[in-house]
Amino acid sequence: MNLHPDLFALAYLIASVCFILGLKGLSSPATARRGNQMAIAGMVLAVGVTLAHPTVAFANLAWVLGGLALGAIIGVPVALKVRMTAMPELVAILHSFVGLAAVLVGIGTFQLHRAHGDAIGTVQTIEVFVGVFIGAITFTGSVVAFGKLSGRLGSAPVVFSGQHALNLALAVLMIGLGVAFSVTLNTAWLYAMTAVALILGITLIIPIGGADMPVIVSMLNSYSGWAASATGFMLNNNLLIVTGALVGSSGAILSYIMCRAMNRSFLHVILGGFGGDEAAAAATATGKTTKAAAVEDAVFMLANAAKVIIVPGYGMAVAQAQHAVRDLTDLLQGKGVDVRFAIHPVAGRMPGHMNVLLAEADIPYDIVYELDEINNEFPGTDVCLVIGANDVVNPAAKTDKTSPIYGMPILDASKARLVYCVKRSMKPGYAGVENELYYADNCMMIFGDAKAVCERLAGALRD
Ligand code: TAP
Repeated sequence: MNLHPDLFALAYLIASVCFILGLKGLSSPATARRGNQMAIAGMVLAVGVTLAHPTVAFANLAWVLGGLALGAIIGVPVALKVRMTAMPELVAILHSFVGLAAVLVGIGTFQLHRAHGDAIGTVQTIEVFVGVFIGAITFTGSVVAFGKLSGRLGSAPVVFSGQHALNLALAVLMIGLGVAFSVTLNTAWLYAMTAVALILGITLIIPIGGADMPVIVSMLNSYSGWAASATGFMLNNNLLIVTGALVGSSGAILSYIMCRAMNRSFLHVILGGFGGDEAAAAATATGKTTKAAAVEDAVFMLANAAKVIIVPGYGMAVAQAQHAVRDLTDLLQGKGVDVRFAIHPVAGRMPGHMNVLLAEADIPYDIVYELDEINNEFPGTDVCLVIGANDVVNPAAKTDKTSPIYGMPILDASKARLVYCVKRSMKPGYAGVENELYYADNCMMIFGDAKAVCERLAGALRD
């Protein structure tokens, strides 16, 4: 097929607009499905047009189709099998592939130009340098993030004295080697620069731990976008430049929002090395006691409440309790109880995790509130039902300056008149920090799997 070059440009432009409209749609749960469909349409158009491009269709089609088939053979079963709670680690490892691709394309493009005896200008060497170093940092950083999120590497931060100085020295060395490569065009400098960037990716991410991983996941998302954009420059592909820039900038905006939600400094995240060195040092309960509640007592209090706030967390996702929670909500609303949901921005294991689960169970959006919208309503609430949430309701974030989560905004569940916390044991949450809420006078524990407990609560309400 010999299409006019302008048609390719037009198709790429349309695909870019689809991606932008897709992102816009994803900004609200009500329009997210349409946004996703729009982005899929853009991607189908982009891939189709790329396959029809003369440089692909007449020269490399077999390679491209072979690559697509191989990717599909590995990717489809993984995507079908992955649990919702394992999504962040899957996303992290996918980011690492984008980074690795940028490194390989950068080195490959340079070697190709040399083999053809092409004149290589300063702009091209800078493109290669930038693409390779962002790609290398994204690659190893994402592999470390994958290890931490999946439990293959300990989630505790690895910190040592002189860490910031080491990161700074590595960054300066990497830039120095890149400049040497740009001036001499000697591949030895390029390889040395790549090696330093690979190490820097590791040293930037190992100090992150405790509750701070969400920011890193979105930061690496942003890096992977910039790596893709740099690849677009190297391949002279406008669509890749635009798409990469969209991913890079939306990831950066998300990181900024997450930083604000976690009360962390954006600069610290970019430079690495925050997260609290005591993050893994869970405090131990000494001489404090909790009160366990029976399901029947909880049902009585819930049914007689005027206002109930439900705080879902990671445990609801693990138990897949969202449908049972919906049932419970319907029954309480049927008894005239005002039921609302309070969502912490980092509840669960990925941005929007709780919103997705609640939407899946058809819980109406208008009773789901973000932290800022609902936090001052807890004091006027009769019962707060915390379902599998822990770190996001831990008052230590406000009161204990030594806590690794100190400074992180929390949902003020403890201010409700009565709090029921549903979880299986007294184990801490992701940050490894003991929760003061469980020992408060107004707090009762309901031990058990979140789905089973919610089903029992709903069953007792029906009786
Ligand atoms: P967590 O603090 O991780 O606490 C989850 C609680 O759920 C645990 O205490 C666990 O206690 C309980 N649980 C687990 N399985 C359960 C089940 N089947 N039934 C009932 N309870 C169950 O969760 P959170 O409050 O949602 O906070 C999220 C944490 O993850 C934050 O520290 C956040 O920074 C971090 N994080 C978030 C993200 C994003 S982007 N959201 C990404 C990475 C990390 P038991 O084991 O005793 O049941």
